[in-house]
Order: sequence, then C-alpha cells, then structure tokens
Amino acid sequence: MILYFSGTGNSRHLAELIGRQAHERVCDMAELMRSGTTALCLSAEERLGWVFPTHFWGMPALVREFVSRVSFSGYAGQYCFAAVTYGMVCGNPHGQLRSLLRDKGIGLTASFSVRMVDVWTPLFNLTDKARSLRITQAAIPVMERVARAVADKRRAKRISCLPPLIADAVHKIMYQHHRPTSPFHTTDSCIACRLCADSCPTNAIEMNAGRPMWVTGECTLCLRCLHHCPRFAIQYGPHTHRHGQFVNPYV
Ligand SMILES: Cc1cc2nc3c(=O)[nH]c(=O)nc-3n(C[C@H](O)[C@H](O)[C@H](O)COP(=O)(O)O)c2cc1C
Ligand code: SF4
Ligand code: SF4
Repeated sequence: MILYFSGTGNSRHLAELIGRQAHERVCDMAELMRSGTTALCLSAEERLGWVFPTHFWGMPALVREFVSRVSFSGYAGQYCFAAVTYGMVCGNPHGQLRSLLRDKGIGLTASFSVRMVDVWTPLFNLTDKARSLRITQAAIPVMERVARAVADKRRAKRISCLPPLIADAVHKIMYQHHRPTSPFHTTDSCIACRLCADSCPTNAIEMNAGRPMWVTGECTLCLRCLHHCPRFAIQYGPHTHRHGQFVNPYV
C-alpha cells in the first residue's frame, strides 16, 4: 500500500510509477482524511509506502496529521519506505516521518528523494514551460530507480545535506510564517467555476459571492488551487502573478 499526498501532481506521478513497478495499491491520503478513513489493513506481503512533497524542509501539515491519526491492522514489520519529492533542498522530511512512525512502532526501511519542478512560485519562476518539462522528464529515470529498489525491497538511507536539527527548526519557523492564508487573493479574471474549492485536498476554500475565500488552519499550502486555476486568477503574495503555473503532465 502506497499512501501519497500531492498538490500539483509530482508526488502522485512518483507514487503511481512505484505502484505499477511494485504492484502495490496507491491511495491518496487527502481522500482518506476526507472520508474519515484512518484505520487501514495491511497484508503480510504488502509494502507500506509514504510519498509526498517536502514543504519548507519538512513534512506537509496534512501528511503529519494523517500519520498521527492512522492505524494499521496487520502490521508486522513489513518493508516500509518514504519517497519525497523536492525542488531545491529537501531538508529533513524523512527524519520527521521516521520519528512519527517510530512512535507508532513502525520502522522505516528505506528513504528516497527525487528532485522535480519546484512549485513554490512565491519564489520560483515557472513561466518557462519547456524547462519545467525538461526537469520533469529528467526525473523519470530517477523515479524508475526508486521504483525498482522498492519492488526489490532494498534498504536505502538518505543522507541529508543539512543537520536535521537546523532543518527542523527552519521548517517550524517557515511553516508558522506561511501557513496563514492572508496572502491568497483572486484577480478579476476569476469566472466563479468553483474548481479551486472542489479540488482542494483539505476543503480549505469556501465560495463567497462567487469568489474563493481561504480558511486559515485548514489550508496545507500545497498551492494546488493556484496552479490548477483555469484563469490563473489565484495569487499568493506579490510575486506569483509573474511566475506562472505548473501541473505535472503525467498524472
Ligand atoms: C509550501 C511549499 C513549500 C516548499 N518547500 C520546499 C523546500 O523547502 N525545499 C524544496 O526543495 N522544495 C520545496 N517545495 C517544492 C515541492 O517540494 C516540490 O515542487 C514538489 O515536487 C511538489 O510536489 P507535489 O506536486 O506532489 O505537490 C515546496 C513547495 C510548497 C508548495
Ligand atoms: S478555479 Fe480560478 S476561476 Fe475558478 S473559482 Fe477558483 S479562482 Fe475562480
Ligand atoms: S487552499 Fe489551495 S493551497 Fe490550501 S490546501 Fe487547498 S488547494 Fe492547497
């Protein structure tokens, strides 16, 4: 069983590729959360996989919450792996996951990371679509190597280029700084199609007089709404309108 979370499709792309190679079922953590499904059953032959993006050098809030709520019947030391997608510097999401799982009596056998397009457009410019496609395609052989390692149940340790204590401290500060939804706003090109509200993984968007309103505390800051809006009407802070949109074309 591979549990994934993905805002713009990168981690879903990786999860589905691993799922095909390792013949594992692939489940969306956001959908499981939305349906209140947190008691899961693991068979003796199954692998347990966690696939998600790094957010500010650590775990997205939704993944952290899911891990703290989930329980597994049938867990008896099966192969357990984490595969994290990132854009520039991955940080310590594997270490954070490892310690949360340890509290549940689950050991992490293997950790992988795959560099993909960095969708944090408050900072990064994604207007060069050919470049985004090149980065996505360059990631495929790396994803295939990860998938083969998972299929063979190989052990793997990822060495972080950052001291975990520093990565964890930065993660906490950055998340506190950015989690408030006040920087979100819409432009006049919004056509009130509701796509943002309907596709938000945490139901953090309410429509008010035809315009999206963000509910602070619910938003996990995946930027799916910003990148999927058909009119590019959602912006976050002062710079995103110059930095374009990205959706992984393989999912
Ligand atoms: C809120 C947020 C914070 C991010 N922080 C980091 C980061 O600290 N380091 C990094 O390399 N990439 C960072 N990224 C980029 C994502 O990890 C990367 O683009 C990932 O592949 C997105 O996966 P997804 O499409 O499955 O959501 C961040 C993205 C978002 C939305
Ligand atoms: S997806 Fe974009 S156009 Fe549609 S309601 Fe949301 S902001 Fe408006
Ligand atoms: S409001 Fe947007 S950024 Fe926040 S969780 Fe929903 S889709 Fe992701």
